[in-house]
Amino acid sequence: MTDLLSDDHAQARDAEDPLRAFRDEFLIPRHDGADQAYFCGNSLGLQPRGARAVVEEVLDKWAREAVEGHFTQPAPWMPYHELVRDRLAQLVGAEPSEVVAMNSLTANLHLMMVSFYQPTIERTAILIEAGSFPSDRYAVESQLHYRGLPPKLTLIEVEPDNADGTFSMAAIERAIRDNAERLALIVWPGVQYRTGQAFDLKEIARIGHEAGAIVGFDLAHAVGNVELSLHDSGADFAVWCHYKYLNSGPGAVAGCFVHERHARTTRPRFAGWWGNDQSQRFRMGPEFHPTPGADGWQLSNPPILGLAPLRASLDVFARATMPALRRKSVQLTGYLEQLIDAQLAGTIEILTPRDPSQRGAQLSLRVRAGREAGRALFEHLATLGIVGDWREPDVIRISPAPLYNTHADVLRFVRAVKDWRHAG
Ligand SMILES: Cc1ncc(COP(=O)(O)O)c(C=O)c1O
Repeated sequence: MTDLLSDDHAQARDAEDPLRAFRDEFLIPRHDGADQAYFCGNSLGLQPRGARAVVEEVLDKWAREAVEGHFTQPAPWMPYHELVRDRLAQLVGAEPSEVVAMNSLTANLHLMMVSFYQPTIERTAILIEAGSFPSDRYAVESQLHYRGLPPKLTLIEVEPDNADGTFSMAAIERAIRDNAERLALIVWPGVQYRTGQAFDLKEIARIGHEAGAIVGFDLAHAVGNVELSLHDSGADFAVWCHYKYLNSGPGAVAGCFVHERHARTTRPRFAGWWGNDQSQRFRMGPEFHPTPGADGWQLSNPPILGLAPLRASLDVFARATMPALRRKSVQLTGYLEQLIDAQLAGTIEILTPRDPSQRGAQLSLRVRAGREAGRALFEHLATLGIVGDWREPDVIRISPAPLYNTHADVLRFVRAVKDWRHAG
């Protein structure tokens, strides 16, 4: 029988990994003279080696050419966001005109709600998941306040119906159907940040639309993690960030999707000159004529230095390809799950769904002995260079990223937890 816990087994699986060379394209932080076992790509992805060169390219161009850099080849700054468009579209399963890299996730969520949350007398409610990422909740609640609507009456927070904090599709469907007549907007995550549960976006969009609501997704934990078909999902809009699985650096410029059917919408929007029709932008006229498609929601000329690493990152994704990454991710997270079940079941509980189609890379773990023990384990792991992250009240998130994590990393984590348990 295969000894899953042996170095030989982990090394053999790493040796046959067709994506193994990609690890060398990342800068792995060091700990006591060795690579960290870095499982925190769900929070901040590692730096691709190619990132420095693209950032330096911008700095050099700025030094040499100053304002002319907006127009001169290669990579003029004026249409710089277009350099990432095609690859981004491919990554999220959208048409190029449906995606734009701009702002930050929360800012984009607000911009989307300004356009796509249009309460009427009958329909005022916004539906989100209970325990949603705080920024999303603040954004939604503040949009309601902004429209003079009391969140107590208009914010619907769907409670998870499973004991581990996850949602059944039936519960989501029930919540939508039960509120169909008053629902204006649904904002749902692609992958829930605390539990790691992944959702069937097409199905949620279908049920939401059937109920007469607009459907938008927060894909912070989904993009670059699970395969997405945003166009086919029928979602009205989606927003995400690029600093997690997309490895584009802290606070990297974020992403936004607007479905093609809204490309020429006359809905209100908060406008800025960068969203104005490109042919007219520099006429400096008083009238705003939005560029059709997602580009029409841009406000400002983008921070080129913040956008540059995304080029390097998307280059890696284009070569690795999402289907291959996902295949490896399912294996790697499955290996982590197998080892926890076999070796640590009495110590650790897995909150994330067991079905690979209902999760991405992340497993959310809870130490059975309670919060204090969980926190102690988390801090102990950090002293060994094993980096996950902690989400209150008691969750350790461990996310093996298929671009740079290995089976050996996973084994190191499991051994460290075993040793910690033996040490009492
Ligand atoms: C699910 C989710 N939504 C929103 C945010 C907020 O992102 P930003 O700070 O880029 O606005 C995060 C950040 O981690 C997140 O995980």
